Amino acid sequence: MSAAQKGLPRRPGLFVTFEGPEGAGKSTQIRLLAARLEAGGVAHLLTREPGGTLIGDRLRELVLDSRSRLEAMTEFLIYSASRAQLVHEVIRPALERGQVVVCDRYVDSSYAYQGHGRGLDTAQLRAVSEAATVGLLPQLTVLLDLDPALGLSRAARVNTPDRIEAAGLAFHGRVRQGFLALATAEPGRFLLLDAALQEDALAGRIWEAVQARLPTG
Ligand code: TMP
Repeated sequence: MSAAQKGLPRRPGLFVTFEGPEGAGKSTQIRLLAARLEAGGVAHLLTREPGGTLIGDRLRELVLDSRSRLEAMTEFLIYSASRAQLVHEVIRPALERGQVVVCDRYVDSSYAYQGHGRGLDTAQLRAVSEAATVGLLPQLTVLLDLDPALGLSRAARVNTPDRIEAAGLAFHGRVRQGFLALATAEPGRFLLLDAALQEDALAGRIWEAVQARLPTG
């Protein structure tokens, strides 16, 4: 169902998400994209999942804490709760103001980590996710693909592994395959990039894709 059919306001902004396994360099690429938006005078907002709101940041602490003992469904619902709050409090209002919203992770992370990784039922995940986001999907999703062994070792050099990072290589291998399957299923929305490429080359490809989708007028 389209936004218009659901009676939602027209969204003049642009919604861009970044996805990928651990240590793929999303933060660096988001920073480089923000610098280009800034230089071009494009109004934008950066946010992340889980988090981005007061309650979302508290949920982030809970879900990533290695002391939390969580069922897979509980884990998914915590991510979804954070997402529902972020969409309503931050993302939709910014899009309605005409801003470019750049979000570090979104529903595709739940499909990859909780669906492919934990093995939860895809149809259930989709139903809850659509309810949590009021059906709001990004116009562009940048997927930085990387071998999970490499990504995890990169991430471990920066921080002590959190609960998800510590879930093991087999889990992270399924997550990667999940992301690739999502990108194959929606080639119009996904920009699939090899995260092992040079930072500048990646930033250039991302900027081209964003520019091509920027609202005009
Ligand atoms: P980050 O490390 O990119 O900040 O993301 C937090 C962690 O949460 C990361 O390991 C991916 C995981 N995650 C999920 O498992 N499901 C989700 O829906 C989201 C948004 C993140």
